[in-house]
Amino acid sequence: MAEIKRIVILTGAGISAESGIDTFRAAGGLWEQHRIEDVATPEGFARNPDLVLGFYDMRRAALARAEPNPAHIALARLEREFAGELLLVTQNVDDLHERGGAARVLHMHGELRSALCTSCETRSRWDAAMQERPPCPVCRAPTLRPDIVWFGEMPYQMGRIYQALEACDLFVSIGTSGAVYPAAGFVAEARSSGARTLELNLEPSEGSRLFDETRLGPASVLVPEWVDAVLNT
Ligand code: OAD
Repeated sequence: MAEIKRIVILTGAGISAESGIDTFRAAGGLWEQHRIEDVATPEGFARNPDLVLGFYDMRRAALARAEPNPAHIALARLEREFAGELLLVTQNVDDLHERGGAARVLHMHGELRSALCTSCETRSRWDAAMQERPPCPVCRAPTLRPDIVWFGEMPYQMGRIYQALEACDLFVSIGTSGAVYPAAGFVAEARSSGARTLELNLEPSEGSRLFDETRLGPASVLVPEWVDAVLNT
């Protein structure tokens, strides 16, 4: 195997499933219980802010009860010990990568534990509920929203991600269905830059044929195995 110098990793809800966080598209998953247009669009928020704030309050409370699993912990170890460059991009809004020990995680879809003030546009660390309309810690206006990228909004830090995809020699997708763009397009981007592409998932994702290799199984098993192999070559 050629020496790997630059890795981009994309994670999705599947990496946190074994921590007890609901995925989106599974039977009984979040998008079966809630309509995307109601709880994950700016229009839904304008129509019924109580419903949207309550949805993210519920998910923030569930996150407080969850713990990182061996997959999060293994990626944190890779971040610490890999001698080359590593960019860890997550679509997840949980903080389980960080609580597993990762120091540099790019949350392209935002974070549950962050509040965005629609008046002063400041972000604040947030662990409480928002449904009661607490004041922004900076400008005091009662205009906080979850710092989450909704459908129709631009994911965060896309320039940095595409730069890394162009330069990487290995792209690894973990626990994502490949149903949501732009993240679903990262594998094609990495391939066209000549990178090897690897998928670790419970079942083949929508873009599975674009991966050079697919390993199927639970993230808590596959990810530590893969990390061990990378660090031992
Ligand atoms: P999905 O719910 O679409 O897909 C989760 C994937 O994880 C599926 O392919 C499962 O097979 C896999 N999976 C489940 N359990 C697993 C396990 N234990 N180990 C490994 N894989 C497992 O979630 P995402 O792909 O993350 O965006 O969804 C992408 C985006 O759609 C989310 O970030 C969210 C959602 O709408 C926004 O809200 C903007």
